[in-house]
Formats: sequence, C-alpha cells, structure tokens
Amino acid sequence: MAQGHQDRRIMCVGLVCLDIISVVESFPAEDSDTRCVSQRWQRGGNASNSCTVLSLLGASCSFMGSLAPGPAADFIAADFKRRGVDTAHVAWQPRGEVPCACCLVNATSGSRTIVLHDTNLPDVTARDFERVDLSQYKWIHFEARNAAEQGAMLERVERHNRAAAPGRRVRISVELEKPREELLPLMGRGHVVFISKDLARHFGYQSAPEALRGLRGHIQPGATLICAWAEEGADAMGPDGELVHSDAFPPETLVDTLGAGDTFNAAVIFALAEGRTLQDALTFGCQIAGRKCGIQGFDGIV
Ligand code: ADP
Ligand code: FRU
Repeated sequence: MAQGHQDRRIMCVGLVCLDIISVVESFPAEDSDTRCVSQRWQRGGNASNSCTVLSLLGASCSFMGSLAPGPAADFIAADFKRRGVDTAHVAWQPRGEVPCACCLVNATSGSRTIVLHDTNLPDVTARDFERVDLSQYKWIHFEARNAAEQGAMLERVERHNRAAAPGRRVRISVELEKPREELLPLMGRGHVVFISKDLARHFGYQSAPEALRGLRGHIQPGATLICAWAEEGADAMGPDGELVHSDAFPPETLVDTLGAGDTFNAAVIFALAEGRTLQDALTFGCQIAGRKCGIQGFDGIV
C-alpha cells in the first residue's frame, strides 16, 4: 500500500557541529581569566538544531549534512540517536574536521556569543542528495550554505514535484541566515523562505515588515517569506502578499537564546506541514522559541 501523506518525514539539510557551551553570569572582559557557572557539549548547527526541535514536537525527521569520524562525531551521532533523528543520509567525509563552536551563554541576559570553526569539512553534494528517496519526504528544509550544490539539489526536488501528484509533492523551505551574495538566488527556490534579522539588517532594513516588503522580489510567486526578529517576534508575507505578525512570547527569565532561530524555524515548519495557517504557524513558532529562551538547551520546549 502506498504511504499516506502523514507518514512522510521532514528532512533538514545543513550544518551539524559541536557546540562547547560555557554558561557565564556576566560576559567576560577580553584577556580575563574567570570561571563559568556550568559547561556542556551540545549538538549544534542550524539544521541539526531544527531536527532536535522537530523530533521533540513529534515529527519524524532526518538530518542530512557532513561529519568526519572521530570523538566529536561519536558524540553527535549518539545525540541524534537519542533524539530519534534519522541520520541515514549523513555524508561521512574521509577528510576534514567536524565544525566546532565555542559558545558563551550569558545566563543573566540570555545572549549567546558564538565563535565557530567551520573551514575544511566538505559539504554534502547534489550527488549525495541523489540517494535520497524523495517519496519518503513531505518537506525538505535547506539551510543555505553551498549554493551551487544546493541549487542542483533543489532542481531535483523541483523535477520530482513537477511529476508528482499534488498530494505527493515535497514542500521546500530555505533558510538564509548569512548575508552572503552567492546564497541570495536560493531565496527564489523555496515555497517558504526564512530570512534572519542579520540578513535584513545587512540590506539596511530596520524591522521585519520593512525587510519583507524590501526583499519580496527575491522569492518565487506564491511563496511565503518569514523574518524573525528576537524580542519583537516574527513577521511573514504570505502567498498573496498579506502581512502576518506574531509578538514574541518572552519567558519569565531569558537564560539561553542559542538556537532560538532554529527552534522558531522548526516549529513553523512543523505547523505548516500539519496544514495550519500562516498566522497559527508564526504564533506557534514564537511560542516554542520563547519557551526555548527560558531554558538551557532544548529539553522542556514542549
Ligand atoms: P536567532 O538569533 O537564534 O536566529 P531570532 O533572534 O531570530 O533567533 O529569534 C527567533 C525567535 O525566537 C523570535 O521570533 C522570538 O520568537 C524568539 N526570541 C528570540 N529572542 C528572544 C527574546 N529575547 N525574547 C523573546 N523571544 C525571543
Ligand atoms: C545556533 C547555531 C549553533 C552553532 C552556530 C552555527 O543557531 O546553529 O548551534 O554553533 O549557530 O552558526
């Protein structure tokens, strides 16, 4: 029997890294020598964090990205397993190092300061992506990284969608976080496109609605553009150009905003994939992301 729509999974393509997180009570001065209140290793990377959240929300999901064998990858693979995230499409690279970030989380303000080493591990290629059986997925989310290869992966999904019955198509979302020129064309390839506050600011926009109006020309007709803006919540422009807003849901105390954006993206994708309205999805995204900001890590967001 053919698989029903509900059985299909959500895939996130992008970065996984090791986050070494020190939680501090106040941000240290340069060249100082202080103690932190706690320290932990956490699986990080936008696509990887979004998989954590999707899994916690109850979606079956897969991660596709690169790893290289070694202790960091062992930790990461075990953590994916613990969360029930499928890793069959991880591309194991024979050379290069697993990206690693040193993160300072200020427990007094919730701010996160990240220094990422991400230089020599090859990204997944369109060739790797050819092994993905698209009929198993209802949604594929791309964290924009290696534009040329991801363009070819998108081409494959678009081809699949042209041949598939409407109920068997794969919805595509794309996240643009870094304001890198070569990533911009990917905005034109998603049914749902997430842009970051950083990217919006880079283009001179001072608010999410301003960014949506200014950047709408980059998306394909009928697509949805979404921009989250920390404590201001998030805004979206739907397929007919309608603007939708959700306020943020700030927790009682902001303790850890590391991965708030990834949490927001996952919750929005989860809600849209369930057929909820754009307004509902945006509100849900802000609720779950708000909850995340009130706790360390991801346990307890649901
Ligand atoms: P990131 O910097 O991790 O990409 P954003 O700043 O874009 O994340 O925030 C994503 C979402 O997380 C926001 O839409 C909001 O709902 C929530 N959020 C982030 N920071 C805060 C905050 N300081 N207070 C309340 N909610 C927040
Ligand atoms: C959070 C995050 C971290 C990682 C960094 C990579 O959004 O994915 O987990 O260290 O960003 O840019």
